Amino acid sequence: MKPASMTVRTLTSYGALVQTLHWLTAILVVLAFATGLGGSELRIYATAHDFERQLHETLGVCVLVLLALRLYWRISSGRLRIAVSHWTDFASAAVHTSLYLLLLFVPLTAIVGAWLEGHPLTLVTGVVLPAPVPAAHSLGATLASVHTWLGDAIVWLAGMHAMAGLYHHYILRDQVLASMLPRWLLQRIGGAAVRERA
Ligand code: HEM
Ligand code: HEM
Repeated sequence: MKPASMTVRTLTSYGALVQTLHWLTAILVVLAFATGLGGSELRIYATAHDFERQLHETLGVCVLVLLALRLYWRISSGRLRIAVSHWTDFASAAVHTSLYLLLLFVPLTAIVGAWLEGHPLTLVTGVVLPAPVPAAHSLGATLASVHTWLGDAIVWLAGMHAMAGLYHHYILRDQVLASMLPRWLLQRIGGAAVRERA
């Protein structure tokens, strides 16, 4: 008999499209974090840092586009249910919701912050989106600081989320990590060890 603390599994793996969106998002977030500029506003918007800043802004905007695609999929197909305890289910839902919120607010605070500071959004492709709102410099600077904190927070949270994925795979030996990996990679890292727990 199934223990009362188990939830029901209805699917065992995310599809290739969702897996691709997930891993592309993860790579883009890490690259955006690595290219984030620090220092004074004068330094950040200096001509010498144009390319670095534009690259960072472009990576961040790509994260927003991927988020829109992921949310469309998420709303239209629901959440994958894996048989684990109610506690784990609650914790993973809380972490995933926080990651989604950060994927939205990290780029948004930066874009609105830059606009309020009076800077256009400039992408490496040459696209320039001028501020659609009048400047309010000190509010913009506050949002820019919030952006840097949230940018750090998403990487910490994603790191813990990754550790949880590895814990599921190597300690609990369930299908949670396997559900997000392409079959070829799963076979390479020992997919045979993955088995159903429920
Ligand atoms: C997921 C996407 C993003 C992540 C993870 C991220 C991360 C970061 C981090 C960690 C910093 C601080 C770097 C440091 O202090 O050394 C930073 C700064 C900055 N980011 Fe982003 N960023 C993202 C998206 C964006 C976007 C879309 C824009 C577009 C405007 C942007 C514009 C900036 C600017 C202008 C700064 C300097 C902020 C200041 O101190 O005034 N970022 N970012
Ligand atoms: C910046 C990096 C990352 C971000 C922003 C991120 C974000 C997310 C989000 C939002 C979900 C929820 C998908 C849903 O709607 O159900 C998810 C699922 C998942 N992620 Fe990540 N992720 C990142 C990195 C990683 C890494 C490095 C790993 C593995 C080592 C990983 C493993 C997983 C797994 C296994 C799931 C499915 C969990 C489940 O269905 O219970 N993620 N990720």
